Amino acid sequence: MRFANKVAVVTGAGQGMGRAIAQRLAREGARIVAVDVKEAGVRETVDQIGPDAGIARVCNIADSAAVQALFAEVDEKYGRLDVLVNNAGIGSARKDGYDKQFARIAERNAQIARGETPTVFPDITIDMQDEGWHGVLNVNLHGSFYCIREALRVMTKHSIKGSIVNISSTSALSGEGAPHYAASKAALIGLVRSLARELGPRGIRVNNVMPGPVNTPIMGNVPQSWKDSMVAAIPLGRIAEPDDIANVVAFVASDEAAMITGADIIANGGSYFK
Ligand SMILES: NC(=O)c1ccc[n+]([C@@H]2O[C@H](COP(=O)([O-])OP(=O)(O)OC[C@H]3O[C@@H](n4cnc5c(N)ncnc54)[C@H](O)[C@@H]3O)[C@@H](O)[C@H]2O)c1
Repeated sequence: MRFANKVAVVTGAGQGMGRAIAQRLAREGARIVAVDVKEAGVRETVDQIGPDAGIARVCNIADSAAVQALFAEVDEKYGRLDVLVNNAGIGSARKDGYDKQFARIAERNAQIARGETPTVFPDITIDMQDEGWHGVLNVNLHGSFYCIREALRVMTKHSIKGSIVNISSTSALSGEGAPHYAASKAALIGLVRSLARELGPRGIRVNNVMPGPVNTPIMGNVPQSWKDSMVAAIPLGRIAEPDDIANVVAFVASDEAAMITGADIIANGGSYFK
């Protein structure tokens, strides 16, 4: 019961890793504020962990005012905040050129399969409109910042030595994934290092967990051939399950990790080394 009497906000808790993290922290005694843009998912998460163990809130983390209201409510309701897990994230946004890249990769692979010298390239950046770039950064980076700032306002107000965990990605290190996604996840590296220095004197810890591929609904869009090549590149021989990552998050968020701050904890089965 590492989180007995503690309050944890988990974003993106309506499915996938966020749901597993909320369940894990709740099993260890935390009261959970499960946050998502999708109401049905986040309500189901709270139904599963038990209404006494948490509340569901609909909030778009990319909306600064909505995030402020969310954390003000947390403060009013619980009078404390011990853990923030910045898990909500997106891999793609409208007008980011992903659809064109998928088509190009398929055509390029077909050319190679026919024994031709490929004339089609896996471009995405030349088709990425501002809206697509900002769409991903707004959630993965700016949304994480809004949640961190508001969490800190509650933690510092009540002198709580809290723990903040961002879900970054191995993509930040390996460069796999589209540029807006990799950049958004890499930005979290600098963010936690700066925050670790700023907040260390208050006893507040800030870290990233960096998963490799994880078996969540986000993977539903990935073609099977890509999944097969991912597994082939993982020395431990499988894609992670959400619970694998939830276990790591629970450790980093807990007092057992009391000396870990500003760190990037890689949990990718050995697929990429820093
Ligand atoms: N699945 C993977 O292979 C993988 C690997 C590395 C990192 N990650 C990261 O882990 C995190 C969780 O991934 P997942 O696979 O569980 O994703 P997912 O798509 O299954 O779930 C993400 C959840 O976040 C919610 N969400 C999205 N935008 C939001 C917003 N603006 N405000 C509030 N909620 C929002 C979604 O509704 C969804 O319920 C993400 O940050 C993702 O980038 C995933």
